[in-house]
Amino acid sequence: MKKRLIWDLPTRLFHWLLVLSILAQYVTAELLDDAVQWHFYIGYFTLGLIIFRLLWGIFGPRYAKFSQFVKGPGAVFAYVKTFFDRDSLPSVGHNPLGGWFVVVMIALVLVQAVSGLFMTDDIFLDGPLRSMAKDDVLSIMNTLHHLSFDTLVYVIMLHIGASVFYGFYKRQKLVPPMISGKKPLPEDEAQYYGEAQGITHSQLGKAIIIALVAAACVYVVVEVLPPSAPAAQYYY
Ligand code: HEM
Ligand code: HEM
Repeated sequence: MKKRLIWDLPTRLFHWLLVLSILAQYVTAELLDDAVQWHFYIGYFTLGLIIFRLLWGIFGPRYAKFSQFVKGPGAVFAYVKTFFDRDSLPSVGHNPLGGWFVVVMIALVLVQAVSGLFMTDDIFLDGPLRSMAKDDVLSIMNTLHHLSFDTLVYVIMLHIGASVFYGFYKRQKLVPPMISGKKPLPEDEAQYYGEAQGITHSQLGKAIIIALVAAACVYVVVEVLPPSAPAAQYYY
């Protein structure tokens, strides 16, 4: 076996920062009193993470690209048939089924972050886009903010369950590669996978530019788009 770099550093950072952010969002909304301002800030950060990942899925290295892991129904079905096969060849990037899990998780967090921009704590704080929407839209956003989180919790439990299943049942350890970036593959992997696998580096320069673009998008949504409140709102 030879270790190959599969998960670039930005994808790994994205993953573990996303995990911390979702935990922090739960804690600031459900467990702590008076933490809604933090919930907003971390929500903006989470939105930035998702915008980054969407761009990274287009411009990033091989295994981060959506085109590499989002497969059609034929490939997903063929993979599902081998699901309980303990000796199936490990997927190098996301497997065809896991790829769709990734898409669903990213989409749910995006819905969560966007709907949050229209929320209110009913006391002091309004999300930055709240004043731009009518009541019926606000009510949909409120429903979405609750519903997508509940759905996300189930999907995350399945996701963590799948990592445990792969580790114990299929003897494929997926978590260490999400930390170190490296996966053990057969020496002559071209023979098994049809071509050489792995990436040579994480393309950090490109990642920094994309992170700045993502931050700029969040700035526009939070600071530029909302109409400034009339002065009267502050004084009376
Ligand atoms: C809030 C909780 C979590 C969320 C929202 C989440 C979300 C994601 C996403 C979006 C990806 C795709 C990464 C990418 O390509 O950008 C991913 C991959 C992965 N996650 Fe998580 N994750 C969570 C928790 C965890 C935990 C606790 C573990 C460890 C047990 C874990 C293990 C993994 C692994 C191993 C992969 C790579 C799967 C593969 O090899 O195809 N995740 N996760
Ligand atoms: C993607 C990140 C986010 C996650 C995971 C998240 C999660 C949650 C959760 C679990 C709740 C509690 C819902 C309930 O009581 O059933 C909540 C409430 C809330 N969220 Fe978020 N949220 C996110 C982003 C945002 C953003 C960006 C904003 C605003 C800018 C926001 C504003 C609010 C508000 C105002 C509440 C109600 C708090 C209260 O009533 O005390 N959220 N969020």
